[in-house]
Amino acid sequence: MQSRVWHPYTQMKDWNSFDVIVKGKGMWLYNAKGERLLDGVASMWCNVWGHSKDELVRAMIAQIQKLQHSSLFNLTNDKAEELAEKMVRLAPDMHRVFYSDDGSTAMEVSAKMALQYWYNKGEKKKTKFATLENGYHGDTIGTMSLGYVPEFFSRYKSVLFSAVRLPVPNRYRIPNGFTFEDYQNHCLDKIEYTLSKNNNIAAFVMESGAQIAGGVTIYPDSFQSKISKLCKKYDVLFILDEIATGLGRLGSMIEYQNQKSMPDIVSYGKMLTAGYIPLAVTLANKRIYDSFLGQHKEMKHFFHGHTFTGNPLACATALANLALYKKYNIISKIGKSSSYLQSRVDEMSRLGLVGDVRHKGMLMGIELVSNKAKKSPITPEKRIHQRIFKEAKKHKIYLRTLGHIVMLVPPLAISKQELEFLVDGTIDTINKVAQQIS
Ligand SMILES: Cc1ncc(COP(=O)(O)O)c(C=O)c1O
Repeated sequence: MQSRVWHPYTQMKDWNSFDVIVKGKGMWLYNAKGERLLDGVASMWCNVWGHSKDELVRAMIAQIQKLQHSSLFNLTNDKAEELAEKMVRLAPDMHRVFYSDDGSTAMEVSAKMALQYWYNKGEKKKTKFATLENGYHGDTIGTMSLGYVPEFFSRYKSVLFSAVRLPVPNRYRIPNGFTFEDYQNHCLDKIEYTLSKNNNIAAFVMESGAQIAGGVTIYPDSFQSKISKLCKKYDVLFILDEIATGLGRLGSMIEYQNQKSMPDIVSYGKMLTAGYIPLAVTLANKRIYDSFLGQHKEMKHFFHGHTFTGNPLACATALANLALYKKYNIISKIGKSSSYLQSRVDEMSRLGLVGDVRHKGMLMGIELVSNKAKKSPITPEKRIHQRIFKEAKKHKIYLRTLGHIVMLVPPLAISKQELEFLVDGTIDTINKVAQQIS
């Protein structure tokens, strides 16, 4: 039977047959034929414990038997309340939690909150956003405007709003004539200059700790904390996106704390429910929240809300998931797994096709190049993403590349043995693909 599914970010002409996944158990996905694949990308960077974790499945069943959905319009529900309390305790300086369905909508919420904050305060000029080049915040019109990855979004440019895009220091691609240290300072000088000269900037928006979808750029120490300070200095709101980098991915629970920075607004998604059900949150500090309070006729309240906002099943799953973070001390386990990944970096860097390996916590980006000296990215005609996927599948691994970058983003709780399997298989995969394209 012909499939009717249209897949995301996929040239459907090239991909006419997909494995049909029917079951997940632990770190493994099973297709209809019973063959298994190690989930090397945590089912798009969100899986924490592996699939079918008993404690989570039981918590979901218990909730679904009691209340499946009830709205946050004029009502509340016990799980949304409990989770909001929990998030505010976890995230320093945050005061209220706004619920949405996924990372893109959580970041739309952040942007609208920032715009309305200034509007409510009578600062009608502050309507622009500053962001980092190659940031990514989702696929809606608003979030594509904020996180503009040219390769993805140039075809939609006509309807995107303009944002000031500022440089981000990438250690592998430092412009000629700069040391890395100089280049960081140059980026920060540009950011400071822009914030100081433009009094119309509502907020600075960036991913916290690292950019992932835009090419895996891990920020140098103090880069984020300096931007945080600049935002305070020039009265620009600081919006952080921890959708992909918070809750353990980079080795910390709250990455902005690790980065010694302090947002006004911050969002979480992906791993919030261990990757079991969609849910995202946008947290705001008291300064933001208080600006929305007033008489009804002042119309200062937030004009945003989704059908499934604060869905109790999703919130109950997130609560059960966060309880497991504590029970199994996952952050300490991630430290060990991260050290293991780091111990394999040199070996991977020596592979013929590999230009650079960037790693932090449970995130690794392996940049493939056609010429190591010139650092030339492998061009799309080589169909590297398809070759890597197919070859990795032979090694029983599910991998997805971002352009010419192989991503290792496994479930956070992956065992040492499975991590070894993943790294060994990835090395073999890259070697086989190198032979194919040489
Ligand atoms: C940093 C970041 N923000 C936002 C998003 C969008 O999240 P979603 O795909 O859940 O809409 C992503 C997704 O990869 C992301 O990496």
